[in-house]
Amino acid sequence: MNASTSSEMNAAIEGNAPVVLDVQDLDSAYGSSQVLFGMSLSVYKGETLALLGRNGAGKSTTMKSIAGVMTPKKGSVRFLGREMCGCSPHVIARAGIGFVPEDRQIFPDLTVEDNLYIAEKPGPDGERNWDLKRVYEMLPLLTPLKERLGGQLSGGEQQMLTIGRALMGNPSVILLDEPSEGLAPIMVQKIGELIRGLKELGTTIVLAEQNLNFCLGLADRAVVIDMGRNVFTGSIDDLNRDEEIKHRYLSV
Ligand SMILES: Nc1ncnc2c1ncn2[C@@H]1O[C@H](COP(=O)(O)OP(=O)(O)OP(=O)(O)O)[C@@H](O)[C@H]1O
Ligand SMILES: [Mg+2]
Repeated sequence: MNASTSSEMNAAIEGNAPVVLDVQDLDSAYGSSQVLFGMSLSVYKGETLALLGRNGAGKSTTMKSIAGVMTPKKGSVRFLGREMCGCSPHVIARAGIGFVPEDRQIFPDLTVEDNLYIAEKPGPDGERNWDLKRVYEMLPLLTPLKERLGGQLSGGEQQMLTIGRALMGNPSVILLDEPSEGLAPIMVQKIGELIRGLKELGTTIVLAEQNLNFCLGLADRAVVIDMGRNVFTGSIDDLNRDEEIKHRYLSV
């Protein structure tokens, strides 16, 4: 998609595609330290939404609150019309939200194949679009590493594995928390190509990132979070043209 058609695409998404994930007014805290203050965002079917913000802005906390890894103090997480706020991570994953956490959390003592295999489950409507064979096709870098232990992988390989593991759960929406962070440029490029490939398959993606450049050409829309609040919602190209927002909230 080029820059001139992106706004039209954005309008089309908002006009036609249903909202699959509707997050409203979330407050989340670590103990007595509140981090999210009325955080809201909506995700349309088939889009890639970038969740952008500086270090410590609340991107991971938003994702963890959606995935049920932490329980918000208040607010709503409606997924396919069903209220998920307060449900356990297991229930939320079963409902079709796949979460790729920042810290990857692969099993270091299991092989790549076993890390994938144990994550296998049908999607919320019994879909089995993803299995080992398809995951290896989508992530060919993992094929020669099948027998390698998770703990012996490079950071980039681990990142590929966590994405593969999320796909094995046949999610309807996939939350990717800073998949490019800390990786060598060649791996960043490969992760970008993978996300583009998933997007072309119609996957609905929420991509948390600090790096706006990584999201350009990948994301349709963007939400900017600062100090736990949504401070911008719009097309990724509108954000890229907004020098003030970029300067104020993304240090660009
Ligand atoms: N486990 C925790 N206990 C206490 N405070 C935390 C914890 N995790 C995060 N925080 C605080 O919550 C705020 C938001 O953190 P969060 O990890 O959501 O930010 P982020 O946008 O994902 O940042 P980054 O880009 O560094 O990953 C920060 O002030 C952080 O210090
Ligand atoms: Mg984070």
